[in-house]
Amino acid sequence: MELNKLYNENCLDTMRMMPDNFLDFIITSPPYDDIRNYNGYKFEFEKIANEIKRVLKIGGIMVWVVGDKTENGSETGTSFKQALYFKEIGLCIHDTMIYYKNNPMPTTGNRYHQHFEYMFAISKGAPKTFNPIKETTKYKGLANMKNRGENGALDYKKVERTDNKKIGNVFFYSIGGGISTKDKIAYQHPAIFPEQLVTDQMNTWTNEFDIVYDPFMGSGTTAKIAILNNRQWIGSEISKEYVEITELRLKENFTNNLFENGFN
Ligand SMILES: C[S@@+](CC[C@H](N)C(=O)[O-])C[C@H]1O[C@@H](n2cnc3c(N)ncnc32)[C@H](O)[C@@H]1O
Repeated sequence: MELNKLYNENCLDTMRMMPDNFLDFIITSPPYDDIRNYNGYKFEFEKIANEIKRVLKIGGIMVWVVGDKTENGSETGTSFKQALYFKEIGLCIHDTMIYYKNNPMPTTGNRYHQHFEYMFAISKGAPKTFNPIKETTKYKGLANMKNRGENGALDYKKVERTDNKKIGNVFFYSIGGGISTKDKIAYQHPAIFPEQLVTDQMNTWTNEFDIVYDPFMGSGTTAKIAILNNRQWIGSEISKEYVEITELRLKENFTNNLFENGFN
């Protein structure tokens, strides 16, 4: 299995080449609910989920970024079904996080504007790495702290607040042309991640030289952020057209020496 390489194929084929317990981290946004037709490719969720469970290391995390389509007057609930399927097969729903869009596409009708997607942080056992993003603590002094023990029971204790504290699990991003990324070419793909989202999640759950994987690489955001942060990476993307976008995007960003920057 070659590292630092994008495989132009179904992610199931890529994962079948991986040994068990191989990946430190996965971040991805699957082609959910046929919201967009990414050149008409098939998405076999349960098979993919089972392979993810096999290839993720014990203590590894996958961040699964999804939302639901509205169909016949109801949201599909696919996001929840998928999260619960991961739990059914033995993974943990470690944290249901929110990707909040500061400036979503406005919608008409009798629902509020759709401001968020889920970021399900799914783990294989207890996470082995957690480098939380921190913010300055506003109020100093003693505080009541809730702690959940192994058995889930709540335990309250007084603790001295430190200067910095970990942030909440709603992450806020502005999105759109020139904001999600400065790479013009990426916008030829219809559904790109904001680069900052991938940076924040990757830095939280991995350390340098860890192996990260995106089974639905799209425009190559995960590969670019992995290279910038000294992580080893692997990607799968079924559409040749999108693979070409990633190749060009990485060449534009890492012109001097692609090989040294980890691109085979
Ligand atoms: C939501 S997009 C991912 C966008 C990506 N996060 C980015 O930043 O550009 C999903 C991608 O999955 C690809 N895809 C669909 N089914 C696939 C499969 N079975 N294996 C690999 N890629 C697939 C689609 O072509 C599409 O580019």
